[in-house]
Amino acid sequence: MNEFLGNFAIIFFSKLLKMKITLNQNQTPSFDSSFAFIASFQDFKNAKPAFLSENEYSYICSKLENEKTFFFSLQHLPHFAFINLFDAEQKEYQLLERIRVLGNDTQKSSNKLNIKSLNIFPAGTSSEQVFSFLEGLCLGNYQFLKYKSDKKNLNTLEELSVYSTQISEKSIEQLQILTEAVHFCRNLVNEPLSGLNALQLAEAVKTQSKDSGLQVTVLHKAEIEALKMGGLLGVNKGSIDPPTFTVMEWKPENAVNQKPVVFVGKGVVFDTGGINIKTDDHMDNMKDDMSGAATVAAAIWAVAKAKLPVHVVALLPATDNRPDGNAMVPGDVITMMDGTTVEVLNTDAEGRLILADGICYANQYNPEVIITAATLTGAAQRAIGKYGIVAMHQDAQEPMQKMRLVGEKNYEYIAEFPFWEEYGELIKSSIADIQNIGGANAGMITAGKFLQHFAKAPFIHLDIAGVSFTEADYDYRTQGGTGIGVRLLYRFIENLLNK
Ligand code: BES
Ligand code: ZN
Ligand code: ZN
Repeated sequence: MNEFLGNFAIIFFSKLLKMKITLNQNQTPSFDSSFAFIASFQDFKNAKPAFLSENEYSYICSKLENEKTFFFSLQHLPHFAFINLFDAEQKEYQLLERIRVLGNDTQKSSNKLNIKSLNIFPAGTSSEQVFSFLEGLCLGNYQFLKYKSDKKNLNTLEELSVYSTQISEKSIEQLQILTEAVHFCRNLVNEPLSGLNALQLAEAVKTQSKDSGLQVTVLHKAEIEALKMGGLLGVNKGSIDPPTFTVMEWKPENAVNQKPVVFVGKGVVFDTGGINIKTDDHMDNMKDDMSGAATVAAAIWAVAKAKLPVHVVALLPATDNRPDGNAMVPGDVITMMDGTTVEVLNTDAEGRLILADGICYANQYNPEVIITAATLTGAAQRAIGKYGIVAMHQDAQEPMQKMRLVGEKNYEYIAEFPFWEEYGELIKSSIADIQNIGGANAGMITAGKFLQHFAKAPFIHLDIAGVSFTEADYDYRTQGGTGIGVRLLYRFIENLLNK
């Protein structure tokens, strides 16, 4: 097996940038080192903070006439003060996102000034607001420098000291776990095929899961054949690397749920399109086609690390999709794990083929809900762009509603699309049970319908094609893999505890 592992080990040499965060609950703030001040603009206008001179205060107040959300860096040499003001009079979910962006502004300025440690002084802000600030700061501080010879641009910011009586050590710990999970997801997505084939993905997940309490089992090609996973094997036919099917399970003794929540993540480590090779300019980012697998792996890892009492399983079918002498050709018929025959009319619609086997495997757990996460269709991306996740559900009204609310609060928006039976007509095949494409319109829905065919439990499908990757930094979402979906799934699971 080692010959396939290549240089996977060095993926972990890239810094996960785990911020050291300490909590100061009793001490009075000292202003003798660099610090970030966070307050609502309304509170700020009412009273001058002690660290500002009259001149500084009136200057900032004059600026506030036009702008209510405000980031300002002030020299108090040899230190700096970063002033973060927000408008408290707006919808809560928008406000929290504005505060994450302020956290990112503070991070950027701190790194530009080579600051290593920062005190954080929230004034009259809620614990949720403080967390949003820390979240934006930590997520924006991520870097993927593994392949850069010159590491001189390494971010300097490493330590935060938060002065707050509102928040607990435990919640700081959870925040660190969650930001580390997002960084882990981004690392996997940013790693190109040359460093991350299906076996390396499985190994990376196994290594990360050490000491997490997760049970991780990697099924190799012979086991995948024994399970008759015709979708995963079919897509893998053109590959020089074997497929993997990784099973991650978190089953705490005190689980609140009888039936597990089962995630299935698309793990196409590179999508060339196969014989229907991608001819437009969309191939260069296709190392991100395993974002679904990375997202669910990172989310379940965080759930296990935080020891949330919820039984969760994550399944990661993985392969690359390439043309080759032995690759599937359009028109081929394959048989999936549950015996369904599929006419493969387009080899570029490969994600649904490997996910179908994943869903068949998921059915065996008699799940409370199956949740798929996948960079499945260009149609999803075209429909709502980078601003949200396209979702559909079958018999999962309540969890879908919860997911939508969690998405809003975490700025990982979800747009639900119809899932009418009529769309199912579009994937009927003339020679097999179903076909893998459904025509020119509503591509994200016919892809979802294809998956629904296999789900024997309440089912939510998340198409993350529009959000999983960003060509350029977008606030605290750094260039490359965004990790969008990790906070959503983690907090969705956390939310199941508030029944
Ligand atoms: N991986 C792609 C979808 C994708 C597109 C992800 C853009 C991220 C950004 C998927 O495998 C694919 O190629 N889908 C085809 C399906 C079509 C052939 C029915 C698509 O969307 O064009
Ligand atoms: Zn494809
Ligand atoms: Zn794909």
